[in-house]
Amino acid sequence: MPITVSEFSLVEQTAFLTAYARALDNRAPVPILGDKLSDRVVGLIDYDFAAFRIPASVVRQTALRAKMLDDRVRAFTTANPDAVVVDLGAGLNEPMVRVQPPEEVDWYSIDLPHVIALREKLLTAPPGEHLVAADLTAKDWTAGIPVGRPTMVIADGLFAFLSEQQVIALFAHTIDYFDKGELMFNDYGRVGWLSSLGMKLAPRGMFTVLRQVWANPGFTDPHTPQRWEPRLRLVEQACLAHAAEVDSFPDAARRVTRLAGRFKSVAGKARVLRYKF
Ligand SMILES: C[S@@+](CC[C@H](N)C(=O)[O-])C[C@H]1O[C@@H](n2cnc3c(N)ncnc32)[C@H](O)[C@@H]1O
Repeated sequence: MPITVSEFSLVEQTAFLTAYARALDNRAPVPILGDKLSDRVVGLIDYDFAAFRIPASVVRQTALRAKMLDDRVRAFTTANPDAVVVDLGAGLNEPMVRVQPPEEVDWYSIDLPHVIALREKLLTAPPGEHLVAADLTAKDWTAGIPVGRPTMVIADGLFAFLSEQQVIALFAHTIDYFDKGELMFNDYGRVGWLSSLGMKLAPRGMFTVLRQVWANPGFTDPHTPQRWEPRLRLVEQACLAHAAEVDSFPDAARRVTRLAGRFKSVAGKARVLRYKF
């Protein structure tokens, strides 16, 4: 019988949005990520996923950014088989299963307590994965995570729901605790008045949820985080519009995305940013 999730807050429900987007990608004729597990997971939850009315462009974007993050984590853990990977705001995502890192890797998936409790019911944690139920706006989430090993901290879809001050504090705490490593996350650039208005006017579906919980104005210049936190150094900005996978998009979507990729300001609205500290 599907599991009921009536106690989930709106922010916690955003985990369903990205899981469902990956499930829809898996059902596409040519999937980008092909995440069968997400498809299975949404089938086990009693929730009106269809009410999100996720546009095809968002499905593609969610799948592609997950793939881009996976590829970089795979490269990092291949080069550093004793690595520690920390997934901030992991939701119901299980990138460890897709990445298949070396078996010495320790992987920490962190999210709010309801989400972690649901993960425990639905997903079998692979060997080496550790679940942490914590609020990332506090500082106790790092307790027990090993230090002194090559560390990659990732976040897919989290920072929109934290204020800028909370993100800055989270970066500082991450670096204070781990001292050295990499930080990588997806980013939407600056959320200008037009995007905010679009979210406000959207009649139903995912944007009615997002406009209530979106807390972060974002930034255009990818060096901004290193101005907040001088121990960070930008090492990569990878725009989704420039990814090779765009070639497999349906015709019209491929043309529009490639065209968007020619304009720096538009391409920067869907990107993966990677920093060293
Ligand atoms: C859009 S979902 C993304 C989930 C997952 N990374 C994915 O790609 O499917 C955002 C996640 O951030 C989590 N989150 C938001 N605020 C948080 C906080 N203060 N502490 C821990 N997790 C938080 C939510 O519970 C949710 O699971």
